[in-house]
Amino acid sequence: MVQVSPFLLVLFLALGAHGLSAKKCFLTGHWVNDLGSNMTITSMNANGDFTGSYHTAVTATSNEIKVSPLQGSRQRGTNLKGQPTFGFTVNWSFSDSITVFTGQCFMDDEGKEVLRTMWLLRSHVDDIKSDWKATRVGTNVFTRLQQHQ
Ligand code: BTN
Repeated sequence: MVQVSPFLLVLFLALGAHGLSAKKCFLTGHWVNDLGSNMTITSMNANGDFTGSYHTAVTATSNEIKVSPLQGSRQRGTNLKGQPTFGFTVNWSFSDSITVFTGQCFMDDEGKEVLRTMWLLRSHVDDIKSDWKATRVGTNVFTRLQQHQ
C-alpha cells in the first residue's frame, strides 16, 4: 500500500482546487478595443482555428468602412493556465490592406478577460520604391462586450 503524507495530500488538493476554480480566457464572443473597433469571433474548431468579423473604428484610407472577415488560430499546445496565445488576419473588404494581429488572452487582476495584441497593417503602394512606407505597427487591447455563454 502506498503511503501519502498528509502534507502532500493537502498540497495536491489545494493545487487541484485552484486548477478547477481558476477562470479561463475564451476567445469566442464580442470584443471592443481601445480605438472603439468591434470584433466578433464566431466559431472555433477542435484545432483552434477560428473565423469572425471585424468592424474597425478607424482607417488609413479615405474609403467608407465596412465590416471585414477575419481568420485566425489559437495555440495548439497545452494551455494549462487558460490564457492562450493566438493570431488572426483581417482581410479588409473596403481597402487593399491586410492586418495581422498576434496576442494573448489574459485574465486580469479583476478577473476580466483581456486580449493584449500587436498588429502589422500592410497597405498597398504603387511601386517598390514606396515599400518602405507601406507597413504600420501598433498595439490594441480588447475587452469583452458580452459575457461568454
Ligand atoms: C485600412 O485602413 O486599410 C484598413 C483598416 C485598418 C484598421 C487598423 S488595423 C489596426 C488598427 N486597429 C484597429 O482596430 N483598427 C486599426
